[in-house]
Amino acid sequence: MNPAAPDGKRRGHGDEPFPGTNLSRYDPAADGAAQDEAVERIMVRAHWRIDELPWDRFDAGKVDPDLVPLIKAAALVEFNADDYTAYLCNVFKDDPEFQEAARGWAIEEVQHGEALGRWAELVDPSFDFRAAVERFRAGYRVPIDLDASVRGSRTGEMIARCMVETGTSSYYAAIGDSTDEPVLKEICRNIAADELRHYKIFYTYAKKYLDREGLTKFNG
Ligand SMILES: [Fe+2]
Ligand SMILES: [Fe+2]
Repeated sequence: MNPAAPDGKRRGHGDEPFPGTNLSRYDPAADGAAQDEAVERIMVRAHWRIDELPWDRFDAGKVDPDLVPLIKAAALVEFNADDYTAYLCNVFKDDPEFQEAARGWAIEEVQHGEALGRWAELVDPSFDFRAAVERFRAGYRVPIDLDASVRGSRTGEMIARCMVETGTSSYYAAIGDSTDEPVLKEICRNIAADELRHYKIFYTYAKKYLDREGLTKFNG
């Protein structure tokens, strides 16, 4: 079952939640009403749940084998968001409002990893997502004990997040548009919408810290 849309109607998996909207054509650098309208249409996909994905429609015959390693890698990075949140909460330790936003963000990122990992396990039964997560974490740790941003400033941290979120939104939108495998298409479209909302969250805080830190093009 899909979550209710803002109009109160529940949508079937075959419905197009944002008719005529090609996510990969969204331009985060654009400004004005057209962008706001595009974002609103895309964000209709908010609040999805893994168990509500159309797993019964999985079609192994439509899987592009070249995509599988990319999805596995993406699943691991996404699932690691809890560590990044710990780092963010250290860097912004006197900003409880942002810390709360960061924790909400992490829940969605971890869900991205979980959904992609579950899809990869369907495609490749020899792939054990949890075991892969353990190997990944053994080889890579976010520097969670730092109390200053690795980007040089708090504004820099927010701008880095904005860039990552727009990049990942485009990445998943492109995969969602290109794949014919129904479950992956749904996952990627949902994730692309989440990433776009994440961009908006970090952009809001980037403006706040830009005002506070007073960075210019010479020291930012
Ligand atoms: Fe994500
Ligand atoms: Fe994100």
